[in-house]
Amino acid sequence: MDKNATYKKLVEEAIKMLNFSYVPYSHFHVGAALLTTEDEIYTGCNIENSAFGPTNCAERTAFFKAISEGKKTFKAIAIVGGPNGIIKDFCPPCGVCRQVMREFCKDDFEIILGKSPDNYIVKTLKEILPLSFGSEDLEK
Ligand code: THU
Repeated sequence: MDKNATYKKLVEEAIKMLNFSYVPYSHFHVGAALLTTEDEIYTGCNIENSAFGPTNCAERTAFFKAISEGKKTFKAIAIVGGPNGIIKDFCPPCGVCRQVMREFCKDDFEIILGKSPDNYIVKTLKEILPLSFGSEDLEK
């Protein structure tokens, strides 16, 4: 599959996940589709909590599903979101999710921000999380 077809497929899978978001508090649905280096897709949605703090973002749901099944290397993630599940704009990942990506992904990991399967932008992890802290900093 060429890169554009892969991105499109990932955005499509992320859009499907908007249906599963558990968002009784914010009503802001987010869906994610994570591509492993073996070309498997792990999806995720956001899952809120009445105590707010335990809320899990869509991106982390996808990562934790994949990692808990033994996947360790990743190529890209598509993210979509919007109020009441209606995509109005790009939905960039929060800082916590960027740091989770930093733990498991290289600088060239791609973040696909979608408005539709044919309207998306692609950024690298290095671009959206410059001057970051990682495991190698613990050894310095
Ligand atoms: N949210 C995500 O799922 N991913 C992000 O990167 C940004 C925020 C969710 C968390 C919460 O359920 C809702 O969007 C509003 O913040």
